[in-house]
Amino acid sequence: ITTPVVNTSAYWFSSSQELIDFKEGRHASFEYGRYGNPTTEALEKKMSALEKAESTVFVASGMYASVAMLSTLVPAGGHIVTTTDLYRKTRIYMETELPKRGITMTVIRPADMDALQDALDNNNVSLFFTETPTNPFLRCIDIELVSNMCHNKGALLCIDSTFASPINQKALTLGADMVVHSATKYIAGHNDVIGGCISGRDELVSKVRIYHHVVGGVLNPNASYLILRGMKTLHLRVQCQNSTALRMAQFLEEHPKDCTCILSWLAKSPRTSHCQEPNDWLWWCCQL
Ligand SMILES: Cc1ncc(COP(=O)(O)O)c(C=O)c1O
Repeated sequence: ITTPVVNTSAYWFSSSQELIDFKEGRHASFEYGRYGNPTTEALEKKMSALEKAESTVFVASGMYASVAMLSTLVPAGGHIVTTTDLYRKTRIYMETELPKRGITMTVIRPADMDALQDALDNNNVSLFFTETPTNPFLRCIDIELVSNMCHNKGALLCIDSTFASPINQKALTLGADMVVHSATKYIAGHNDVIGGCISGRDELVSKVRIYHHVVGGVLNPNASYLILRGMKTLHLRVQCQNSTALRMAQFLEEHPKDCTCILSWLAKSPRTSHCQEPNDWLWWCCQL
């Protein structure tokens, strides 16, 4: 019923022949902790099922998930597009590290589809990376629309879906190529573990996995266990947070004091004009 925690760095082969069979693809086994772990593999399968992804790789943090994805899928000298709202450390990484590989960047406002089209028309864009909802302003991107725009120009679309969780949004089903999460937030849900993941088509995720196996931002199996345990209540926690946020937003919207309420999809919200329809649940985060 519970997934065992497999605390090992190396794996046993009972004979040289078994090792040869493993290396030549006739025997399935784990080999070394940086290349895979049964507890983490169970977590990856669960995440793939939630995101409707062919494959998922779990890593040591949400930041490392973005770094591994960008390092793998954006070639040296490439161009990326991203948005003004972005987790600050992701922005710092993009501004300080990507130029060292000759990667240039266009930054657009999340709702500015003309600016996105312009960036796609005038650069050889490898990837559009955006959060939706964004951190910290909870702006929403129309994933279906931007995925069509990107794919028409041969660019990949990666969504940081941390603020949505896979309960509120399944970006791959709307056309995104990759989804990254800081599992530290909703997915693990108990403030006791840091982790991140990248989900998508096997063809793309396996490239990230190869990079990850070399560079080594491995998630400890005990952390994998804590995230698996947290995920058992993910749907309940997110539904509860959605309905609390909605109640708060409705209360504050009617409040006589002048306050701005940002709740994606709330009828009178200033964000509504550039929100997409939700996938599964109607309401999510509220920010004052
Ligand atoms: C939207 C978003 N993406 C990525 C990260 C980075 O995740 P982690 O803290 O797990 O490295 C954060 C962290 O706050 C975040 O808010």
